[in-house]
Amino acid sequence: MKLEDIVSLCKRRGFIFQGSDIYGGMAGTWDFGPLGVMLKRNLMNAWWNYFVDSRDDMYGIDAAILMNPRTWIASGHLATFADPLVECKECKSRFRADKIADGISESVTTEEFLATHAKCPVCGKESWGPIRKFNMMFSTHVGAIDDDSSVTYLRPETAQGIFTNYKNIVDTVYPSLPFGLAQQGKAFRNEISPRDFILRDRECSQMEIEYFVHPSTWEENFEKLRAMQHDFLENVIGLDSSKIHEYEVPASDRAHYSKRTIDFMFDYPGGEEELMGLAYRTDFDLANIQRESGKSMEYRDKITNETFIPHVIEPSIGVERLFLAVLSNAYTEEDIDGSKRTVLKLPENLAPYKYCVSPLLKNKPELVAKARKVYDMLRAKYTFVTWDDSGNIGKRYRKQDEIGTPKCIVIDFDTLADDTVTIRNRDTATQIRQTIANL
Ligand code: GAP
Repeated sequence: MKLEDIVSLCKRRGFIFQGSDIYGGMAGTWDFGPLGVMLKRNLMNAWWNYFVDSRDDMYGIDAAILMNPRTWIASGHLATFADPLVECKECKSRFRADKIADGISESVTTEEFLATHAKCPVCGKESWGPIRKFNMMFSTHVGAIDDDSSVTYLRPETAQGIFTNYKNIVDTVYPSLPFGLAQQGKAFRNEISPRDFILRDRECSQMEIEYFVHPSTWEENFEKLRAMQHDFLENVIGLDSSKIHEYEVPASDRAHYSKRTIDFMFDYPGGEEELMGLAYRTDFDLANIQRESGKSMEYRDKITNETFIPHVIEPSIGVERLFLAVLSNAYTEEDIDGSKRTVLKLPENLAPYKYCVSPLLKNKPELVAKARKVYDMLRAKYTFVTWDDSGNIGKRYRKQDEIGTPKCIVIDFDTLADDTVTIRNRDTATQIRQTIANL
């Protein structure tokens, strides 16, 4: 399977379109169509249910995207959230240096880059300017005054909306350590080279947890959250465990706030790429917020009365990267009776539609009327049922296979006689009969 197969299926079936497609597109932005929204929401809900709703130690939050610019001074993003930018002197194309040369990291110097003898991917020349640090935050102006005093930034991570609310939560919910604050929402990064479909975007959605712990317990909590990530990825959303690899990020490549990071890598169609990160952020963020705001971020232990700034373990995952992992995990091509069938073998909890109801023949009013009754009955209770009477039944199966619908319910002439229907299984293409009452 190639990445293009998935891109093409996403467009053909209305999962994902290029952002601003009608005007020629806008690099690094993507629009989710009807099926894409359903799958994306199922993913986000599965995450929220697993990490927040079903736990006593996690609380949800939904902070504003626009934040006071002091946030980005305290967090270090204004000073350090930058990628190495290099320009070809010949054709003026600009690239992220560590993405066009092998064996160098984000902290590459001009000398190290030149020593790799990388050629320009556009014109093929080897004529480079110096490496510059390019800050990836999108700036904007707040209010009617358009000068330096009104500049702020679209958040590059949802995390800061959690850290800046830590004190509000402690003062209103009185949680006991360890506890986590979870958030889902948009994040924006002016990536130098957005690429690989939805893998590296300029606008993405993150799902993040800041898990606050006593400093002496960070290692055991790191392990606890590490195990939870595997459980979620493998058992809740069904990713193949052999495609997930942990990568211990060396100090030179870690984000400025991290003392330990494990990247969870996934075998995407184009190769292994980062799916998510698990970072030990120490008290970096809360201590900086305390300094910048002048307000205490200390936590007082309810039993021992000890006061300290909690340390933080952060699992952070991009919805789009998870979406692509789920799609590539589910995408299957099979040979059935000499013809190719494409199937999205999505787990039932993620499939946009769980059931499709159809009449065997669309030109038989009695079949259509009976099928409508079955559809209305199920639809009254469930949102995840769809109707399909287009083309012939074979084409309908192919379409439902491609969008991952686990079961097709077909109303035929026997249904009129004995109130039974055919239920066709997506993965095995086998059929059983069942009474309508038992659906
Ligand atoms: N708060 C920590 C943080 O933001 P990160 O490693 O920069 O850490 C976390 O990002 C996750 O967010 C990544 O593992 C990835 O899943 C997702 N992500 C980051 N940048 C992205 C981008 N440009 N496009 C799509 N997803 C992205």
